[in-house]
Amino acid sequence: MAEFDVIVIGGGPGGYVCAIRCAQLGLKTACVEGRGSLGGTCLNVGCIPSKALLHATHELHEAEHNFAKMGLKGKAPSVDWKQMQAYKQDVIDGNTKGIEFLFKKNKVTYLQGWGSIPAAGQVKVGDEVHSAKNIVIATGSEAASLPGIEIDETSVVTSTGALSLPKVPKSMVVIGAGVIGLELGSVYKRLGAEVTVVEYLDAITPGMDTEIAKGLQKILAKQGLKFVLGAAVSEVTKAKGKNTVKYTLRKDDSAHEIEAEVVLVATGRKPFTGGLGLEALGVEMLPRGQVKTNDHWATSVPGIYAIGDAITGPMLAHKAEDEGMAVAEVIAGKHGHVNYDVIPGVIYTTPEVASVGKTEDALKQEGRAYKVGKFSFMGNGRAKAVFQADGFVKLLADAKTDRILGCHIIGPGAGDLIHEVCVAMEFGASAQDLALTCHAHPTYSEAVREAALACGDGAIHA
Ligand code: NAI
Repeated sequence: MAEFDVIVIGGGPGGYVCAIRCAQLGLKTACVEGRGSLGGTCLNVGCIPSKALLHATHELHEAEHNFAKMGLKGKAPSVDWKQMQAYKQDVIDGNTKGIEFLFKKNKVTYLQGWGSIPAAGQVKVGDEVHSAKNIVIATGSEAASLPGIEIDETSVVTSTGALSLPKVPKSMVVIGAGVIGLELGSVYKRLGAEVTVVEYLDAITPGMDTEIAKGLQKILAKQGLKFVLGAAVSEVTKAKGKNTVKYTLRKDDSAHEIEAEVVLVATGRKPFTGGLGLEALGVEMLPRGQVKTNDHWATSVPGIYAIGDAITGPMLAHKAEDEGMAVAEVIAGKHGHVNYDVIPGVIYTTPEVASVGKTEDALKQEGRAYKVGKFSFMGNGRAKAVFQADGFVKLLADAKTDRILGCHIIGPGAGDLIHEVCVAMEFGASAQDLALTCHAHPTYSEAVREAALACGDGAIHA
């Protein structure tokens, strides 16, 4: 039995970042992880492997559609799925091993095994019970399926199975037009599968700015993704190697079905807290399965904290990381803080989609007076040069004070572009502040500046 100042349960982006920061702050720290490698869902079966497949298939798309236009002629590459999977695994391994290295460097003890909390101040891993003055629950989330659907992770899959399919299917139905559905739907579309996305709501990407969601749907439809909106999936049946997805159109209650070799269930995720022993400890939970925490990530049991997907808020790796750092500061007696108003969201389709702050819909609902500065990538020389002029930047600012309230981007590098707006928002900047900042030419970021100019006297290249 070892004694620690902090034991973090879960080695995903929330947990490992928290452990490293605790150690940096002088606390004797351990991190418990049961899956055999660090990095959680994100590095092992989420963000990182999906980015590898998105990158590889984007390159394929470029070779098939744009190389000849640039004078690069020759046979289009063929897909070696095994090799693409091996590349993806290399990317995963490189990243997960990197965290082991960081643990060693920062003197974080890596406890391998599934952890539970037999009593406050104790963490059990395997047969050993360790003592900890503070415990941080960072156990993340798992895919939430639907009743009537049996996941086998080979032909009816969650994102986990979808990243490692035995072969590229001829057809795929994606249930849910959220982030996972659109990213992985894009991957398989580019690999040649017929992809149909069936979504319960009347729009894709719930919670996203309506104009952006519509723009994205149009672009993805142009790329060949099919959409069935306003459709509630009730069941998936399997016969003779084919899956049949049954759904009802909400507008007229009519019943429909669609066949597919593979069905990807991407209808959201739920907190993963089973097996920790929280009920016996009396840790208060919320109705939707999250651990209840206060403003300092403390649970109802003293000395036990929780962060990331296991608590409320967007299920995003970077939100978990920020909470991980902040709770470490709190435990070390400092002032941890997360600004939940400035958490960017990114969808890694091509083009990428990124947003931060308020949507136009939310501002309308609040009755707040705002102005919109919009700029199309059609007016951005760099985007045009690389066949990525679809999309636009939309900056929202307060009508009176010009303070930036939100930004929504569809376009090349959107996931990186959004961060200048995040920093501006953290500093309480006005649209004019962005507009007056010199942006290098030719970069995609000029489109952000032009949107800021459009909030004032007007964009130049519009
Ligand atoms: P999501 O919550 O983004 O989307 C799920 C979609 O499924 C919704 O649009 C919902 O209306 C639809 N749906 C639910 N029940 C349905 C039914 N019976 N029939 C048809 N449609 C139905 O969930 P998703 O995409 O599974 O992602 C899970 C979590 O992982 C999210 O919180 C997401 O933010 C996070 N994530 C983030 C990524 C990123 O930041 N790039 C990448 C992947 C996941």
